This record gives sequence, C-alpha cells and structure tokens, in this order.
Amino acid sequence: MNPSLPIGIFDSGVGGLTVTRQIHRVLPNEDLVYLGDTARVPYGSKSPSTVVRFACEDTQFLMQQHVKAVVVACNTCSAWALPILEKKFQVPVFGVITPGVVAALMASKSKRIGIIGTNATIRSKAYTSGIMARCETAKVFAKACPLLVPLVEEGWTNHPVTQTILKDYLTPMLRQKMDTLILGCTHYPLLKTAIRKVVGPDVALVDSADSCARYVREHLENRRMLNPSSKRTGVIQPFVTDEADRFAEVAKRFLGYPCEPPWKVDLAPL
Ligand code: DGL
Repeated sequence: MNPSLPIGIFDSGVGGLTVTRQIHRVLPNEDLVYLGDTARVPYGSKSPSTVVRFACEDTQFLMQQHVKAVVVACNTCSAWALPILEKKFQVPVFGVITPGVVAALMASKSKRIGIIGTNATIRSKAYTSGIMARCETAKVFAKACPLLVPLVEEGWTNHPVTQTILKDYLTPMLRQKMDTLILGCTHYPLLKTAIRKVVGPDVALVDSADSCARYVREHLENRRMLNPSSKRTGVIQPFVTDEADRFAEVAKRFLGYPCEPPWKVDLAPL
C-alpha cells in the first residue's frame, strides 16, 4: 500500500466533518477524501440491515478513490457495520466506538459511564459491550437522543430549547452518578458547551471524534502507513450524494473552516 494515498472518511452526512477536523488536526500532512451520504441521511433512525448496506456502498465508493485506509466517522455505521467492512475491504478500517470506549475507561474513576447516540447506535449496544468487555464491573447508562441531530444541523446549539431537551435526556444519567459521558454521535461535539451546562464541571466528556483521530494516527504510524511527505498541508476533498449548495454552509460549522466545494456523486448499489 502506497502511504502517499489519501485516507477515506465517510458519514451519513455532514456530521463526520467533526471527525475529519480532528484527523486533519492530528495528521495535517494527510490528504483526506470525505464522503457524506447527504441524500440518505439520517442513518440513525434506519434498520441495521439498511445501515450495513449503506456503509458498504459508502466504503466501496472510497475504495474507488484509491484510499489507503477508511475511517467510519458515523457512530451508527461503526456500531453496526465495522466487522463486515473489515472483512469485505482490503484496507484498514477504523471506527469511532473502540477509541471512544478506551478514552472513556481512561477518563472514568468510578466506571459509571453514560453514552448518548442515535437510536440505532444505542440499540446496537456496541459501546456498552465494548466497555463491559474491558471492565466487567463498569456500570453503563445509555440513552438514545434522536432530537439532537436535527437541532445541531439547524444551528440551535445554544438555543434554550436544546438546553431543555438535553436536561430531559441527561438528568436520569446524572441521577445514576455517571462520572463520564461518551458523546457517541458525529454531531455532539458541537453541543459540548450546552452539555457541560447540564452535567456540570465534574463529568468528563469523551469526544469520539477526537479519540478516533488519535487512534487512527497511532495505528497508521504502527503500520508505517503515514504519508512520508511532511512538507505540505494535506487537502480535504469532499463528495456528497445530494445537492452541494447547503453542504458548504453547514460544513463550515462542523469543520471550523470552509472546505473545497464538494463533488456530487451517485453511489453504485452493491
Ligand atoms: N452520523 C450519525 C452518527 O454519528 C448521526 C446522523 C445520522 O443519524 O445519520 O450516528
């Protein structure tokens, strides 16, 4: 595998740009190819078989772009499709669940850990099983928060309505005395300030985008797959499956800076 090839990243839509942002931060010399399946978002309310099918089609598209590794930025896809993608495709495939689990166990003193995510992610129990496999005595409190993705996409991250909804979702977990909360969805890093207001200063927030980026760097380094040219800044090439117009505006919020105009593509069915 040629280490100068780009890293592929995919998500159901724009949310995975939070992961892209962190990967670009920790691996600034790498070229990144981003696919947002904006025509079929959201994945979080879909059935497991549909999520797996979409994840395979997304990965197949990235493989056609000749990527050296694939990052499954979408928590819902990581939760349901990772083992299948690892088997099906010939490049290393990284998800967000394991890095999030490892970071949460490191951050938690009491091992009372909360997880929030989409309906599909919580239904998969992927985070819970990952934690229990590494720490039998841990107590895990999981909550699906389906209202949060649309609120973030609307830009309502500081809106009082969002604060009320977060209180409703998180209060039962606070009663269980969790000391760590995994933000198990691409969109939740944008809610960190709002979540902090609800949980207070003593609960550690684990940003799965950040832990995933560091995990990818470590693993590519170990496999000697990092781009050897350290002189230039890598480019981020986005692809989307729906109209590109709205993407640019929302993407800036998730990425933190404007990105290249995206190409609209049609994904081949498997
Ligand atoms: N990207 C999805 C995730 O992280 C959230 C948006 C969706 O439901 O598709 O689970």
